[in-house]
Amino acid sequence: MTNFPRAGVIGNPISHSLSPKLHGHWLRRYGIAGSYEAIQVKEDALQDTLRSLPEQGFVGLNVTLPHKVAVMQLADQLTDRATLIGAANTLTFKDDGRIFADNTDGYGFLENLRQGAPGWDAKAGPALVFGAGGAARAIIVSLIEAGVPEIILTNRTRPKAEALRADFGARIRIVDWVQSGTMLSDAATVVNTTSLGMRGGQEFRVSLDGLRSSAVVTDIVYNPLRTKFLDAAAEKGCTTVDGLGMLLHQGVPGFERWFGKRPEVDDDLRRAVLA
Ligand code: ATR
Repeated sequence: MTNFPRAGVIGNPISHSLSPKLHGHWLRRYGIAGSYEAIQVKEDALQDTLRSLPEQGFVGLNVTLPHKVAVMQLADQLTDRATLIGAANTLTFKDDGRIFADNTDGYGFLENLRQGAPGWDAKAGPALVFGAGGAARAIIVSLIEAGVPEIILTNRTRPKAEALRADFGARIRIVDWVQSGTMLSDAATVVNTTSLGMRGGQEFRVSLDGLRSSAVVTDIVYNPLRTKFLDAAAEKGCTTVDGLGMLLHQGVPGFERWFGKRPEVDDDLRRAVLA
């Protein structure tokens, strides 16, 4: 048992995770005696791991793929947001042994947008969201909470978009993936939540020709930082926000709960995480 608080990130695989750099930078910056570790956990070892880590001095964890849904069953207390999204990314181990589960992805998404596009107004008009996977769930919940009047949702596999509308309600309008370009002129906010544009993968090919220059455009892909999707939007005169900040901001609530200091997201941190 250590005499300083330990935290970490669990997933499988885990070596690619940037969270150790993120939290490690904050621990150093604020001179906090604590640790943050990457822990590879196989699916069948999840329950035992969650029960044994608190005994080893762990005060909490970030959770990444493939465990974000499974940890919901193992937690004792869920935030409304985690329940609504159906997944958790931040766990806190309470002194009484209970596990508290939250989802901060939507918070990270909104904070990134607010920091990167200070004039962004959720209520300015519809949001066009590409993709209906796990990330889209958190982002849609946060956009609805922020007061976006309508979400135009488009996904290659339409039934997944329909499932999201069934969960999150009537403010969502679904359009076919091949028709999505025609919706651009309505959108005040445009979000890519798909993996398209990630280094080594397929490119985002929907033309952004119809985009209004007043739209704020953001991508959850951050490798590369400047995706073709963002470059195409910038060419139309839009304010663009890259996806790295979503990752950085989603870490803030966990760090504060575990280590007692609300950390800042700034250029120094971006450089440290990218180094
Ligand atoms: P995440 O949790 O990061 O959102 P995910 O749940 O696997 O990951 O979702 C990936 C998203 O990227 C989905 O919306 C997926 O579309 P499908 O539901 O049709 O699979 C989208 N996506 C991935 N590859 C794509 C491609 N080549 N063309 C269009 N959409 C793609």
